[in-house]
Amino acid sequence: MVRDVEAIRGEIARRGFAVLDTTLGEFEILAGVLGGSVSVRHRGPAIDRLVPTDVAAAAPHSLSAVFGLGEFPFHTDAAHHSAPPRYLLLRLAEGSTTDTPTLIVDGRPSELSCADVKTLTRETWLVRGGGTRTFYAPILDTSRMMLRFDPGCMTEPTGTRLTGRQLLRDWLARSSVEEIRWVPGATLVADNWRVLHSRPALGPNDKSRALLRKLVV
Ligand SMILES: [Fe+2]
Repeated sequence: MVRDVEAIRGEIARRGFAVLDTTLGEFEILAGVLGGSVSVRHRGPAIDRLVPTDVAAAAPHSLSAVFGLGEFPFHTDAAHHSAPPRYLLLRLAEGSTTDTPTLIVDGRPSELSCADVKTLTRETWLVRGGGTRTFYAPILDTSRMMLRFDPGCMTEPTGTRLTGRQLLRDWLARSSVEEIRWVPGATLVADNWRVLHSRPALGPNDKSRALLRKLVV
């Protein structure tokens, strides 16, 4: 059974994420307790089923459209939303198997120098929202202590020193990476404003890989 929700919130506040053992029903209940569900795309399903998708079959501006079955870069989810969801919940779909973990890094801004925070806050990237909607947003919004980074839907500014991407790369390189192994029941609950996630390239044993995702505002 899902642990006490306050204990889960406490663990997320401490380290940015929690790994639980849940049933599918508990996964849905937990999402409901943490907040309201939101679909990653307009009129999308309440639970996404994430399966290996090659470049040709991927949705526009998704990471699969750029990286296909290859390695995904570290990113936050739904970066194209004007207000990205606070929590990301992932679990292995029933009957699925995968050898490929999800990798996560706790991107606490407290690990950055003041100069780095200023750069990440001031440098605005072009974000492609749904349809033809675009807007500008920084990688780090200190008013909400929120990270927003997805190279699939965000383009760095031109005509500036272009330091945000490099800062983020350096920051990730010195951060410790946690591996989430997808065994049945394993459920990741991550603070999507603070934790970045990625995955290595998919292998031949990942043909039946399917992760269920819920996003919570
Ligand atoms: Fe993601």
